[in-house]
Amino acid sequence: MENNECPQLTADLEGNYLIDKESAGEKAIGLFYAPSGGSVHKVAKRIKQKIKDRKVDMLYIRDVKPEDFLNYRNIILVSSTSGKDAWNNDETDEWAAFMPGLQKLRLDGRRIALVGLGNSVLYPNNFVDGLSNFADLIEEKGGILIGKTETDGYTYTLSRSIQDNLFMGLPLDEDNEANQTDARIEKWLSLVLPEMES
Ligand SMILES: Cc1cc2nc3c(=O)[nH]c(=O)nc-3n(C[C@H](O)[C@H](O)[C@H](O)COP(=O)(O)O)c2cc1C
Repeated sequence: MENNECPQLTADLEGNYLIDKESAGEKAIGLFYAPSGGSVHKVAKRIKQKIKDRKVDMLYIRDVKPEDFLNYRNIILVSSTSGKDAWNNDETDEWAAFMPGLQKLRLDGRRIALVGLGNSVLYPNNFVDGLSNFADLIEEKGGILIGKTETDGYTYTLSRSIQDNLFMGLPLDEDNEANQTDARIEKWLSLVLPEMES
């Protein structure tokens, strides 16, 4: 468990969760990830290590509730694409199981950045498709999606996660292009961190 620093939430009379005033003033970033134990987990740890000047709470979604998103003004979500069948089956995709809870939240004004793992060689027609599930939800709920990425330098045929020639987050391919992961994260963070609230 790595969420022991998660601040408490309060709720208003209508049951809406309110961000804790202290944490709202903090520079903390909520780095939510799943699944655990594979490439997503490895990349999430690497992202945390590379963010030097802010507090980063790294949270495995199995250990938290969707409402814990509301503890953070700045959020990074790390996920992988596991295909439509898995996404449509809550038991095989932890993020899919988390989504109904996220649907109930308002994310107004929160800066949210996505990182999506995929495999561009085995799934060239669905490269990091899963990012689009998050992007749609965030925009629907009033969140501000930051960290869109140029498609240059990626090899793929099709992706549902491209809008206006930009990936809706940072695609990473640990299966085939692991040697590019560090540079991709660093470049992305250099653009994303200044866009986050301090
Ligand atoms: C059953 C299955 C389906 C997958 N489907 C896709 C896909 O549609 N698009 C894609 O880009 N990657 C796909 N991948 C690749 C994974 O996203 C990639 O291997 C990722 O790094 C896995 O992260 P993890 O080790 O944390 O689970 C799939 C992998 C598996 C096992």
